[in-house]
Amino acid sequence: MTPLGKLRLGVNIDHVATLRNARGGAYPDPLRAARLAQAAGADGITAHLREDRRHISDADIEGLIETLEVPLNLEMAATDEMQAIALRHRPHAVCIVPEKREERTTEGGLEVAREENRLAHFIAPLREAGCRVSIFVAADRPQIDAAHRIGAQVIELHTGAYCDAHAEARLADRDAELDQLREMAGRAHALGLEVHAGHGLTYDTVQPVAAFPEVMELNIGHFLIGEAVFRGLEDAIQEMRRLMDAARVQAGEPVQ
Ligand code: PXP
Repeated sequence: MTPLGKLRLGVNIDHVATLRNARGGAYPDPLRAARLAQAAGADGITAHLREDRRHISDADIEGLIETLEVPLNLEMAATDEMQAIALRHRPHAVCIVPEKREERTTEGGLEVAREENRLAHFIAPLREAGCRVSIFVAADRPQIDAAHRIGAQVIELHTGAYCDAHAEARLADRDAELDQLREMAGRAHALGLEVHAGHGLTYDTVQPVAAFPEVMELNIGHFLIGEAVFRGLEDAIQEMRRLMDAARVQAGEPVQ
């Protein structure tokens, strides 16, 4: 297929805020992490404002909007409160995710097909406000087709099942998940959707996904923040960037 251009890396800084909130103070500062990530070559910053504010706060979002030079991708649930916040700040992108209070992290993709009408009405004002609307979905054809029908411009494919299978050495499952992700990236692209991917990606799992020519952006957080403890945030990000570029080159795609 025609080359689609450089694969972007969005760095998710939620877990810097998780660490800060563990002590209830101001340190470590997620905005400082965002500035460092920018300096290290991140193409965007991703932050999830959860309803329970367990990591990123409203003030963090305000600070990011005021100071970031790269685009902000605001992850949020499809609630009235979050819609109002997004409309007030108008971030470059809004990624709609499912959210359950009891979960440790975003566990699955959004059930778009089940809530098509509501979601179509929910995202319309966000689009009109100039936000690129992304829907976080499992690699599942009915969900992708529904995301297209409701007028989303982007889908983000949930890579969690692939990464879990890799971590647990369930290699046949891992390869099946990867095949499904590849097929659904192609399906979404054929529908005219921009394709992103993320969740659970590490140095060990990023390359096969980075090699899909349709994928334009990867959003990676938890692993990078963990790795930063050992090698520093800039170095951790630069290594991820290097692996992504290498996978792209090997797949015959341009890196610039
Ligand atoms: N993309 C989406 C939509 C997410 O919800 C998350 C987790 O907040 C990520 C990407 C990043 O996942 P991880 O922190 O596991 O790299």
